Amino acid sequence: MAFTLLHHIFCACIILSFGFGQAKFGFIKKLGFINRLPTIYVDPSGHGNFRTIQSAIDSIPSNNSEWICIYIKAAEYREQVTIPQDKPFIYLKGEGKRKTSVVWDAHGSITTSATFTSEADNIVAKSITFRNSYNNPPTSNNQVTVAVAAWILGDKSAFYRCGFLGFQDTLWDHQGRHYFKLCTIEGSVDFIFGAGQSIYERSSLSVISKSKNGGIGVITAQGRATKDEPNGFIFKDCNVFGTVPTYLGRPWRDYARVVFYNSTFSDIVAPEGWDIWNSGGRENQIMFAEYGCKGSGSNNTGRVSWEMKLDQKTLSTLTSMNFIDSEGWMKAQPFNMLA
Ligand SMILES: *[C@@H]1O[C@H](CO)[C@@H](O)[C@H](O)[C@H]1NC(C)=O
Ligand SMILES: *[C@@H]1O[C@H](CO)[C@@H](O)[C@H](O)[C@H]1NC(C)=O
Ligand SMILES: *[C@@H]1O[C@H](CO)[C@@H](O)[C@H](O)[C@H]1NC(C)=O
Repeated sequence: MAFTLLHHIFCACIILSFGFGQAKFGFIKKLGFINRLPTIYVDPSGHGNFRTIQSAIDSIPSNNSEWICIYIKAAEYREQVTIPQDKPFIYLKGEGKRKTSVVWDAHGSITTSATFTSEADNIVAKSITFRNSYNNPPTSNNQVTVAVAAWILGDKSAFYRCGFLGFQDTLWDHQGRHYFKLCTIEGSVDFIFGAGQSIYERSSLSVISKSKNGGIGVITAQGRATKDEPNGFIFKDCNVFGTVPTYLGRPWRDYARVVFYNSTFSDIVAPEGWDIWNSGGRENQIMFAEYGCKGSGSNNTGRVSWEMKLDQKTLSTLTSMNFIDSEGWMKAQPFNMLA
């Protein structure tokens, strides 16, 4: 229905309004609009502009400076997808996180295994799942090793209703300011890791394992390396659940910062809450905190002694949207996804 309407209105105005010429977009006759953005359609059956997501990205000119939507029809796309650094202002829109998914199964290295790599600033994705199928779902005969589903290293990037599914090192929230809302993130070991400066809101964190007694999971491995770095992972109104006991996190670097705020924990959260990993002796530099959490896993009687108690001022600084967006980049994105 939407497609049909779009086909009726597209042609005259797109060239006038957006100035995309035939030279840049040979397929211009099929461009439409989503949220009033010029839109490229990906459809594996051949009814769109491209059959693969990467070929749609490749068609966008280097140094792109206007928002453009890539609309990705419901399907499982078997490809590794990269948005290179010189292609900012791309909005990837799927048809639902259970309907549109990108799947690959590379593993063994964090820098080559990602199913989806986002290097550019100003990227938005909505209603799409990125999965690394190596050990997701868990397969007992595969050894456990890194297998990244998404590697996010651009600044000012936002993800709404997205899935990130893997086992070890699922989501490399590497660097830059990021917002995740209503997402599902699944894994077993260090499955949200890196030195991103990120707020995760109303998202589900699902801890899986190869077996019921398959050790203990670790949700986060945050990588803040010095006390001057602004990064950290803030979880607001999130849900933690799964099938095995888990730590909320362990420090990947010596100034790791992770806060769970007003979140709900099932009984899988280990009483200690956190693990010190390789930062023994430097507990006072680690900022791991919980505030206002609920559920059977939130009883903090048995927590590690070095879990930090945050004062109200620090708490409100870290949990406010200003933590990632003091300059208003989210509002400057040409569509309101915050609602
Ligand atoms: C893109 O911008 C960079 C930096 O300004 C420039 O060096 C490069 O030549 C540009 N590329 C194209 C294809 O215009
Ligand atoms: C806490 O989370 C619940 C949802 O679980 C939400 O309705 C409520 O507004 C949140 N409260 C605060 C103070 O953020
Ligand atoms: C929290 O755990 C402690 C130790 O297991 C227990 O004594 C206490 O009753 C628990 N509190 C709640 C509110 O369940």
